[in-house]
Amino acid sequence: MLRVAVEKIQRGMILARPIPLPTDPFRYLLQRDIEIPIDLKPRLKQLGIHEVWVRCRDLEFLEHVIDEELCEQQRQLYCQVRKNFEQVMRSSVSVVDIDVAHFQNSISSLFHFLKSSSFGSVMLQKLDAFDNYLMSHSTNVCYVALLIGMKLERYIIQERSLLKPKDAKDLRHLGLGCLLHDIGKMRIPLEILNKPGKLTPEEFEVMKTHPTIGYEMLRGQAPPAAAQVVLNHHQRWDGKGYPGRADQASGQMFPPMVARQIPIFCRIATMADIYDAATTKRVYSQAKPSVQVLHEMRTWCKGAFDPLVEQAFYEVIPAFPIGQTVRLSNGIEAVVVDFNPRFPVSPKVQCVRTPSGEPFADPSQEEIDLALYPDLDVVEVDGIDVRPYLDIQRSRPVSQLDPMLVG
Ligand SMILES: [Fe+2]
Ligand SMILES: [Fe+2]
Repeated sequence: MLRVAVEKIQRGMILARPIPLPTDPFRYLLQRDIEIPIDLKPRLKQLGIHEVWVRCRDLEFLEHVIDEELCEQQRQLYCQVRKNFEQVMRSSVSVVDIDVAHFQNSISSLFHFLKSSSFGSVMLQKLDAFDNYLMSHSTNVCYVALLIGMKLERYIIQERSLLKPKDAKDLRHLGLGCLLHDIGKMRIPLEILNKPGKLTPEEFEVMKTHPTIGYEMLRGQAPPAAAQVVLNHHQRWDGKGYPGRADQASGQMFPPMVARQIPIFCRIATMADIYDAATTKRVYSQAKPSVQVLHEMRTWCKGAFDPLVEQAFYEVIPAFPIGQTVRLSNGIEAVVVDFNPRFPVSPKVQCVRTPSGEPFADPSQEEIDLALYPDLDVVEVDGIDVRPYLDIQRSRPVSQLDPMLVG
């Protein structure tokens, strides 16, 4: 099977995975093995669905990279987030009841599932498009943060040294904090929250109150480590984040946290949050290819992230997702079939068309590991020239940085 952008859907394409209905993740808009009606394209776009998986005779082996059980777990988590957020929307009191125990159970099962899954650690499987940006964003941030956290077990134990190692490396509170990290946005006026353009400085000041509002909403209900993620997910490693620290007794304000003052779970949440916001198409911005987002995070957000968290991030987030069609610098059209954390911009690909557009007779014989060919690059994704973005992280992988800290 193959990922195909909705604009590129052609007559005769057969769905390899069902398309869930964005308004009800447990019902489907279209079932698998059905030919996609061409006239459905505008409706798919309108529903926020940007790509679909279609059958491709020579790429049936890619079926294993999408785990339907994982999708199911993410859908369940999404539904819980939606239920709780809607409750917050309906209520006007400042402290609301959050079903923390229920969340913890779902996060535990997602966490255990990822640990036992051989692909979970390398294959980013974002939630399909759903009807609400804030809620699907929360679910995705939780997922990406768990993947990063799993790479950094020993570092987390070191950073949470007041706890027993068994408790320190328990990522459930990280997951819970990420699911709820933007809950304070439910109290931001809609004209600011959904504004399709740049916020004015005054509006931005209002927006910046959402971590504190969320923290106040959860205080006493969520475990402190999770509540900390809500309060501090906009802190930056270089100290340029927010909010500032308040002295509880005097009410005096101090500058925002910097570097290791920021709890490790919050540093992980910041990375996952920025990545998901940048890869998701919103009302007012186009979704960008993953390789472009990774490049921008490295250049625009320089200094914002804990270097070790950043290294782990590049090990779990592929610059070119498996199943994506790309063009190589020799003109060949190929499909990404594997991700190599050591060489993030040089995946393994299977060639499908020659530079003149002729299909290869047997694509299974045409596999190239780009890591072995330094002169051969991916140059185009979905019609976008990606050559300016190929400078991402070619340094040593995290596992070679300090074996004592990562695992
Ligand atoms: Fe936020
Ligand atoms: Fe966020």
